[in-house]
Amino acid sequence: MADTAAHDPSQLDPAETMGRDELEAIQLTRLKQTLAYAYERVPLYQRKFDDAGVHPTDLVELDDLAKFPFTTKEDLRQEYPFGMFAVPQSEVVRIHASSGTTGRPTVVGYTQNDINVWAALVARCMRASGIRPGMKVHNAYGYGLFTGGLGAHYGAEALGTTVIPMSGGQTEKQIQLIQDFEPDAIMCTPTYLLTIMDAMEHRGIDPRSTSLKFAVCGAEPWTEEMRHELETGLDLQACDIYGLSEVMGPGVAGESVETKDGNHIWEDHFRPEIIDPFNPAAGPDSVLADGTPGELVFTSLTKEALPIIRYRTKDLTTLLPGTARPGMRRMARITGRSDDMIILRGVNLFPSQVEEIALRIPALSPHFQLELTRTGRLDAMTIRIEPRENTTPADRTAAAAELKSQIKIHIGSSCAVDVVEPGSLERSNGKLRRIYDLRPKP
Ligand code: DLL
Repeated sequence: MADTAAHDPSQLDPAETMGRDELEAIQLTRLKQTLAYAYERVPLYQRKFDDAGVHPTDLVELDDLAKFPFTTKEDLRQEYPFGMFAVPQSEVVRIHASSGTTGRPTVVGYTQNDINVWAALVARCMRASGIRPGMKVHNAYGYGLFTGGLGAHYGAEALGTTVIPMSGGQTEKQIQLIQDFEPDAIMCTPTYLLTIMDAMEHRGIDPRSTSLKFAVCGAEPWTEEMRHELETGLDLQACDIYGLSEVMGPGVAGESVETKDGNHIWEDHFRPEIIDPFNPAAGPDSVLADGTPGELVFTSLTKEALPIIRYRTKDLTTLLPGTARPGMRRMARITGRSDDMIILRGVNLFPSQVEEIALRIPALSPHFQLELTRTGRLDAMTIRIEPRENTTPADRTAAAAELKSQIKIHIGSSCAVDVVEPGSLERSNGKLRRIYDLRPKP
């Protein structure tokens, strides 16, 4: 498979400045190789392509990818644990897995070259987000089977930074190390950064006084309003980073600190497509035009251990033209996952929409949960949200009414709002659970 040329990590990778035509020529070559490679080496792909009546040689131009079948999390589960690996186990240098709260976990593997590419792409993201070789990076993504910790770690080393492998949790310790080691940057989920900020305030430490200048946050949806909250609260620049274990891990796409306008997808390694999440067409009509919202689908272009063809991420976004990296397309902020969409009396709603609206109301904090219940045949949603600490009871009552009314105006749903005591809702340790679904299971 294609190798990434070694490059000076302090400089942009040459691929980052390629024009669209050159990039698409590389994509076409790599896509042909990947389809043939997956078909030859992974029985599941051979079966799926044969069933769909397509052969790798049917890909003549990039758009022909639409003829090929999708891959889903279910496929990975069925091939548990190693059935989708395209190399013998002796060539797999690392394994990661999803938490698998329901059913079997999904297992992914990497060759040494896969690890090198992954590290180089995370380094690209970090560099784009303002981090430079020689800086100190506090890594609070969880280490272990989750790709966040080790993915960020190897990226930080590849960039030439000093990495502090703190992992997630132990918030008091995090704060102590941030004060003592004086890192320039932090990497963690946006809600965990909020937890750290909150805990600093409670210890009487001004979160704006630390050495932190950059944050690279991802692994869960977050909004522009949350970016503003973190940037002003901590006096730093916060950028997004996107990825998923089935496709690689963190670093599939990253955000540039100059533009802060969404993640550029590293299209020399991944070919993105957008499809209709609820009713994907089969065959050549399956792809929606750039600029149309839908579900993001990825095909890997250089992966060796686990080539992935048209993987349905369930993440909802829109593909946009590149800006800071003009050859690469950007993805708009993820609204949510199609399987996290709440349907409330016929109206679709995502937690990120509530975050966006709530954070525009000065008396409300970003700490909230959504509780879904059912009485008879009617579904109901209660937003439990903490107010800002310095608010009066009258502010809180007014804020609850305002949130309820703004949700009705902007989303179209009626809901209840319960303004709870500051500090009473569970804090994030990584990926925060926002939805508590108490409805009886069908
Ligand atoms: O969360 C990889 C990662 C680690 C990305 C650290 C960024 C930083 P998974 O556990 O496989 O991998 O979960 C992947 O998380 O399909 C999205 O639904 C969500 N996600 C990841 N990044 C973002 C983001 C890692 N920037 C799933 N914005 C994905 C919104 C994100 N959602």
